Amino acid sequence: MSHAEDTSGSRRDFLYYATAGAGVVATGAAVWPLINQMNPSADVRALASIEVDISGVEEGSQLTVLWRGKPVFIRHRTADEIKAGQAVKLTDLVDVNAENDNLPAGTDASDANRALDKDGKWLVMMGVCTHLGCVPLGNGAGEFGGWFCPCHGSQYDTAGRIRKGPAPRNLQVPVAAFSNDTTIKLG
Ligand code: FES
Repeated sequence: MSHAEDTSGSRRDFLYYATAGAGVVATGAAVWPLINQMNPSADVRALASIEVDISGVEEGSQLTVLWRGKPVFIRHRTADEIKAGQAVKLTDLVDVNAENDNLPAGTDASDANRALDKDGKWLVMMGVCTHLGCVPLGNGAGEFGGWFCPCHGSQYDTAGRIRKGPAPRNLQVPVAAFSNDTTIKLG
């Protein structure tokens, strides 16, 4: 792109091209400083909330989204998974804290305190093993029917609570809430 072309478009045109996607990358280095100014700074990005459409997440499946640079698991639990989670006694847990950013510190790790909704159908957790940060495998993986981290063998149950292996804490539940029946807002 020549310099004349750079400046010929109106600001409105430029915004259109920028939001139109990757095509703008090919137009030359001169455009980049403008694009960078339009992006939020790193600290604003880190705080950003996102909304996730969960309408297509079938019972018994999990959606993984990237948020603040980390995976977040959104699982639509089956009745059996909920029942299994509710049946676990607190005394059987390695970490008795809910590790839920939506609840006060010190709240116990009952199944109800881990789930996002009162029926316990939706579980939202950081997909980051609390041992050394690997991404655990889900969809009923491991000895406790929840998640399994193959890095060093941590096993999480159907409520994402650590049950066996070196991880010290339950998978963290981030700040999350339903915006409507089919949308979960993270952050
Ligand atoms: S990082 Fe998950 S068990 Fe070590």
